[in-house]
Amino acid sequence: MCGIVGYTGARADRSVREVLLTGLSNLEYRGYDSAGVAIANGSLAVRKREGELPELKAAMEGGAEPVPDDGLAGIGHTRWSTHGPPSDANAHPHTDCGGRVAVVHNGIIENYRDLRESLAERGHEFESDTDTEVIPHLIEGALGQGDEFEAAFRRAVDRIEGSYAVAAVHADRETVHATRYRSPLVLGLDDDGYFLASDVPAFLEYTDRVVYLEDGQFASIRPSGAEITDERGSLVDVSVETIDWEPEDAGKSGYDHYMLKEIHDQPRAIRRCLRGRLRELDGAVEIDELGGLDRPKRVHFVACGTSYHASLYGARRFRERGIPSTAFLASEYDVGKIPIEEGTVVIGVTQSGETADTLTALREANSAGATTVTVSNVVGSSASREADHVLYIRAGPEISVAATKTFASQQVALTLLASAITGACDRDTLEALRSLPDHVQSVLDQSRAREIAAEYADAEMDAYFFIGRGYAAPVALEGALKLKEISYAHAEGFPAGELKHGPLALVTERTPVFAVVTGDSRAETMRGNINEVASRGAPVVAVTDSPEPLAADVDHVVPIPETDPRLAPILANVQLQLVAYWIARELGRSIDKPRNLAKSVTVQ
Ligand code: F6R
Repeated sequence: MCGIVGYTGARADRSVREVLLTGLSNLEYRGYDSAGVAIANGSLAVRKREGELPELKAAMEGGAEPVPDDGLAGIGHTRWSTHGPPSDANAHPHTDCGGRVAVVHNGIIENYRDLRESLAERGHEFESDTDTEVIPHLIEGALGQGDEFEAAFRRAVDRIEGSYAVAAVHADRETVHATRYRSPLVLGLDDDGYFLASDVPAFLEYTDRVVYLEDGQFASIRPSGAEITDERGSLVDVSVETIDWEPEDAGKSGYDHYMLKEIHDQPRAIRRCLRGRLRELDGAVEIDELGGLDRPKRVHFVACGTSYHASLYGARRFRERGIPSTAFLASEYDVGKIPIEEGTVVIGVTQSGETADTLTALREANSAGATTVTVSNVVGSSASREADHVLYIRAGPEISVAATKTFASQQVALTLLASAITGACDRDTLEALRSLPDHVQSVLDQSRAREIAAEYADAEMDAYFFIGRGYAAPVALEGALKLKEISYAHAEGFPAGELKHGPLALVTERTPVFAVVTGDSRAETMRGNINEVASRGAPVVAVTDSPEPLAADVDHVVPIPETDPRLAPILANVQLQLVAYWIARELGRSIDKPRNLAKSVTVQ
């Protein structure tokens, strides 16, 4: 939800302008309704545009004054609007009255109305509807009282309340100052350059050495070095981590869309998730990070969207092992009304680790005395810091707004977690887990999804329904979410048993139904549900590991390999991801950047 970047460096072959544009293009998944940059070099070159990055590039290159290549320091922003609609004026960076200070911000400034009013009384004029614009004016006010730039930046930050990752440049300085509170900010270190960004992919092609800033810490980067200080200005000791990602992880690797690349990345992502966690000797699951986590009396999962669907799957895994477990939508997790008894473990599942609802639920669970665990893809993310324990799913960066490989990795990670935490060891499941990457690969190699999509990608369809039972029910929900978010078609997923309790009224010949029929999902009962929709004229596509008995009842069978029945839905989901992708493509949608959405949702 908004991405920020900052850069300063001494390399002759790498301009500030180029680094900012690369960073913004790698962060576009965080927001893409407008973008902008400010580059300092004695004066400030500020360019910002409503729309996607090419609009900004055109503004930087064209016109009477193209942005020069020889800037000293710069900041950039890609926006997902919260205060004020997308427009050139509301795009970041925002500047002070004198045009000497520019600021980019990700988050929400809760007291901006009061600040704006008091600044306006002192003669400051505002050009946008945003909350952010108060910051450059606060800095300007402090500079006017004789503060140095860094002191003025700190004084401005002292006045704001809310959540923020904020970075500022001054026309005459080669320094970028930045800080964070409840919004992500990472420092990247290269031999001759320093980067700041909301997320690592912004600068992954330049460096893999990073420092994750803590809330309340300040970073100052200049070509000669970087400093991290605390709220009082004292230097803090930080550890530099090396990211275990390849630069190509942040690219498309020849695929037309990140989503397609990430769907195809799943065998590798699952292998990474499993690596070193299955003990060869006795087949047990061992997760080093989880030392000291005892068998819980009960488990609450908190998550949103796709991660919630993975949590439904995870809760079933835990229940199967005798631990009462419930998945809650994080936005509906009201700890005051949901008792946290002794021995409760609350597991936040979040790809980004920055989702505001999930973070809030984890914080509430912490203060209610629960033991908390975060299951995340992003090392050093806010959620991973919030919890007592962290389990990383290791899927590698996911750039497409629609989550794909991380859903598979979350389900695998939760399967491992359930085994590790209960001490129960089931050799067959572990064997099936080992084979899962190869099974996913064979689905990818032989999928008929494109052909199915061509048949059903029809704007005349009223809706698309997805049904499944047991472990396949969360995949039915996920199949529908994927299709609706990238194709804009109306799609709903149901546990198949719910059909007769309402949704069946909607079923006609213009509502294709995708039925996930896997080993555990009570194939005979599913067959009954398939007949119910087929007899109302609905075209039916069965995604199944037992094609033979179903072939006569449905219009198409999309087969998946036979495996452990609890892992089969992961394979079925790969087929549904491909169907969603190809339908969206047939309809000419903006697949990686669907309208109105952003990858990491940092507002409640
Ligand atoms: C859908 C999707 C979203 C996210 C949700 C939670 O494709 O990506 O539904 O799953 O916004 O995000 P995380 O997992 O980052 O907490």
